Amino acid sequence: MADNDAQKAKAGEAAAALVEAGMTVGLGTGTTAAHFVRALAARKLDVQGVSTSEATEALARALGLRTLPLDEARSIDLTVDGADEIGPGLALIKGGGAALLREKLVWEASRRCVVIADASKVSTVLGGFPLPIEVVRFGHTHTANAIADVLVDFGLPTPRLRTKDGAPVITDSGNLIYDAGRGAIEEPAQLAGALKSITGVVDHGLFLDLADQAFIAGDTGVEVLTP
Ligand code: A5P
Repeated sequence: MADNDAQKAKAGEAAAALVEAGMTVGLGTGTTAAHFVRALAARKLDVQGVSTSEATEALARALGLRTLPLDEARSIDLTVDGADEIGPGLALIKGGGAALLREKLVWEASRRCVVIADASKVSTVLGGFPLPIEVVRFGHTHTANAIADVLVDFGLPTPRLRTKDGAPVITDSGNLIYDAGRGAIEEPAQLAGALKSITGVVDHGLFLDLADQAFIAGDTGVEVLTP
């Protein structure tokens, strides 16, 4: 196990200890969230999970966790999820795994959100990780031009269509992902608003004012950060 994978596991285990029997739990996506899902399943509590992606749904089911769709969950007590970058005030960049839309929908339906990560994800200014932006397929090149106009206003490079094995990545909701280039995001709230105002943009990976706590695993243990 690589060092930061061991740290991811520690963060996941610490967050799994927050879960109590009877809870409805939002299950994040990615390698760190998978550690949480495994640690949660190992506790064998009577809980129900709401998955943020098809991949997490498959993992949860394989581990014997009971799941239900977001629309059938009256409320979510706690969501635990990873992040690609954690900036000041627990402002986050998410979506490196293309699950940002479902993640944000689950986070927004949750009473409490805890982000888990290894210490390498913490930064002093967002933008070290390319910001993912989810767009509808119809007319996406025009949407990309509109995104580029917004990004340039914020001093950020032109976005690129995310591909895998030569084909565009399609999200669980049937959309495309454009990734902004790296660059300091000095005004995340303003950028978030400007991106959301573009018609073809479904959502973006800026998660602002959503995380209640961060469990950050480093060499000396798990540190808990608050906004
Ligand atoms: C999924 O789309 C992302 O938001 C993940 O939560 C994020 O990429 C973190 O993934 P890792 O835990 O694998 O680094």
